[in-house]
Amino acid sequence: MDGVSGERYTYGDTELAAERLALVARVFEPATRAFLERTAPPPPGLAYDLGCGPGLTTRLLRAAIGAVRAVGLDRSGPFLERAAHGAPGGVTFRAHDVREVPFPEGLADLIYCRLLLSHLVDAPALVARWATQLAPGGLVLLDELEAIDTSDPVFRSYLDDVANPVVEAQGARLLVGPVLAAMPDPPGLERVADDVATFAPPATQSARIFGMNLAVLVAREEVPARPALAADLAAIAAGERAAAPVVWRMRQIALRRSAVSGRSATGSAPGLG
Ligand SMILES: C[S@@+](CC[C@H](N)C(=O)[O-])C[C@H]1O[C@@H](n2cnc3c(N)ncnc32)[C@H](O)[C@@H]1O
Repeated sequence: MDGVSGERYTYGDTELAAERLALVARVFEPATRAFLERTAPPPPGLAYDLGCGPGLTTRLLRAAIGAVRAVGLDRSGPFLERAAHGAPGGVTFRAHDVREVPFPEGLADLIYCRLLLSHLVDAPALVARWATQLAPGGLVLLDELEAIDTSDPVFRSYLDDVANPVVEAQGARLLVGPVLAAMPDPPGLERVADDVATFAPPATQSARIFGMNLAVLVAREEVPARPALAADLAAIAAGERAAAPVVWRMRQIALRRSAVSGRSATGSAPGLG
């Protein structure tokens, strides 16, 4: 399994998993772009995108805030291969387990992650470790799930009976946003922004995302087949069955390292193993 609890990322790195992330990217992009534009410094020299998957968020670091070098880190070979395909200048990718420091290209002006900490154990300790990889004045930007609100019984069944239990079985928290909101700021960092972005795409899109997640989880034998739930999600996705939209909420936190710092790049922050 994934995170400190294991070795696999919940939703895998197959063709279907990549298609799912492409849809996620389209649905989430406006909220992500707004977060980056409002919090990022003048164009960062080096920006890491942790758990970059097929690299759509990495490209956004360059397109939205003009990172001179945007480096996506992921441990999935297939995702990295896909990410590198046709990548624009200044956007590169490296195989790296983001639980480990130092990061491979040195200290960064910006470290960004989206939809990653839901899959990793002990998010606050990881954020503190990542903070050691910032240059003085650098920023960590966390863009993670705060809530997925819905009263629709089909969506609820997917979330309550499939998604949450799978992530919890790995020792992680799907809705990790509240944990990040409550954590103390890592040593040497100051919280300069902490907001929740809300968006409600059409129910058809949320149903497609959930349906693809379910298909991937069943294919990986993480959950038993749920044909009735899959059919209900497919019917909503096709517009054949009405459903209320899902309201997605993203916790968006910016932490800044003070402009003067003596911290080393080896991750030797006090209290971190
Ligand atoms: C939900 S995807 C998010 C992808 C991208 N950030 C986005 O928002 O579209 C999570 C990604 O984190 C990667 N991942 C999970 N655990 C990781 C680890 N320990 N080190 C590096 N990458 C990891 C997975 O391979 C996957 O690509």
